[in-house]
Amino acid sequence: MAEYKDACAAEDLQEGQPRRVELLGVDLLLCRIQGQPYAVENLCTHDDFELHDGPCEGEEIECPIHGARFSLITGAALTPPAFEDLRTFPAREQGGRIQVEL
Ligand code: FES
Repeated sequence: MAEYKDACAAEDLQEGQPRRVELLGVDLLLCRIQGQPYAVENLCTHDDFELHDGPCEGEEIECPIHGARFSLITGAALTPPAFEDLRTFPAREQGGRIQVEL
């Protein structure tokens, strides 16, 4: 059964600075947008490359390899060459911690 797992301190997740975290063997990219925490899988759906080094602007991150853009809120693939959305996970802030449901 999925449950919320501790990911990092809330103060370590700042706007515009996505953070890579591994939880239960899943490579996650956490971000904070307009105060809310979000979590997506840190894996481009075009060619399985890690996204965390890609440029980030607002809710969008760009894959550093071929430039596909994704929404960090919905996981939606926004531009080619990726057409498949990122896997997303519920995230919350509680007691000064960021937690992700896995
Ligand atoms: S690996 Fe990400 S766009 Fe190709």
